[in-house]
Amino acid sequence: MPFNTQLTRALGIRVPVVQGGMQWVGYAELASAVSNAGGLGILTALTQPTPEDLRKEIRRCRQMTKNPFGVNLTLLPALVPPDYAAYAQVIIDEGVKIVETAGNSPGPVIKQLKAANTIILHKCTTIRHAQSAVKMGVDFLSIDGFECAGHVGETDITNFILLSRARQSLGGVPFIASGGFADGQGLAAALALGACGINMGTRFMCTVEAPIHQNIKQAIVDADETDTELVLRRWRNTSRLFANKVAKAAVKVEKESPTGKFEEVAEYVSGKRGRQVFLNGDKDFGVWTAGQVMGLIHDIPTCDALLKRIEVEATETLRSNQNLFVQEGDQPVGPSGTVGKNTNNPGAEIWGVGKSKL
Ligand SMILES: Cc1cc2nc3c(=O)[nH]c(=O)nc-3n(C[C@H](O)[C@H](O)[C@H](O)COP(=O)(O)O)c2cc1C
Repeated sequence: MPFNTQLTRALGIRVPVVQGGMQWVGYAELASAVSNAGGLGILTALTQPTPEDLRKEIRRCRQMTKNPFGVNLTLLPALVPPDYAAYAQVIIDEGVKIVETAGNSPGPVIKQLKAANTIILHKCTTIRHAQSAVKMGVDFLSIDGFECAGHVGETDITNFILLSRARQSLGGVPFIASGGFADGQGLAAALALGACGINMGTRFMCTVEAPIHQNIKQAIVDADETDTELVLRRWRNTSRLFANKVAKAAVKVEKESPTGKFEEVAEYVSGKRGRQVFLNGDKDFGVWTAGQVMGLIHDIPTCDALLKRIEVEATETLRSNQNLFVQEGDQPVGPSGTVGKNTNNPGAEIWGVGKSKL
């Protein structure tokens, strides 16, 4: 059954699941597969070397799906920043109506995109930044908890707090939950906390259509929630990465260097080597981004199978939760139809409600 949330209505999608921008992963193959499956697929603008390449990628994606898709524009500190205005102009000229913005000082880009009636989902890791983005006129916030892959920010607040803070303090501006989501139970929980959808990164990396080496998908399946490292905290640019040999070496230098010079870790955290990982399948070749949600990922489905599964799980979770309360005065009915205590489970009688917890 299609969902009916502010996100699905505004974006014209069936399942309230967004595939977040992913450097060196967010190509047309993945974005179109997610959109074809009923979610919102997103191309990553800076994965394309020039604005003109982004134009070609948008056109390629449009040939692969008739459904809406978006573009991610990430504004990160750089010695020579990309021409963000030119990338934004291509997005506008190509008629893409949905953009995920992320990173520092997005004001001018948001203004440019809003002037062209673009729907903006702005991703941020603090309520303070979310409130600033609201003032800039964004349409949705994408609230990225500390669990997330990539830039986690510097405040280390996980989604249980962040999402309820968003519900309480964004003046009703709709938000989606990002970071740590992989299944329909997670979607149901996010909806219960007030979000109108979820954003997933790592989970979508581990799908058939993600254009990265099979070994890396398998590394995600084999990993658990403890297999990430936080790097670059010393320079207040903290990123959550897959805990491979290079990330661990970078953390060691970061913690032990008496100088605190960024040049000492620069070679470890080089994006160029990270990009090669996705192509050559050697998980230790360079650093690459992944989130704690790896602990919840056990397979490599197609995007279609994944979104169908999430839809069923979320629907069943939301429905079955209705059995968790009864009319005042009614006897509670257990799963096997028994009233009061569950006779299929003798342990429940011995250690049931009201008994000591040992
Ligand atoms: C490989 C990879 C690359 C990413 N690159 C970007 C990026 O360029 N821009 C961005 O805004 N977010 C980026 N992200 C973050 C995702 O869009 C998303 O916010 C995050 O993955 C959510 O956490 P999750 O992995 O627990 O689902 C990246 C994530 C991954 C896994």
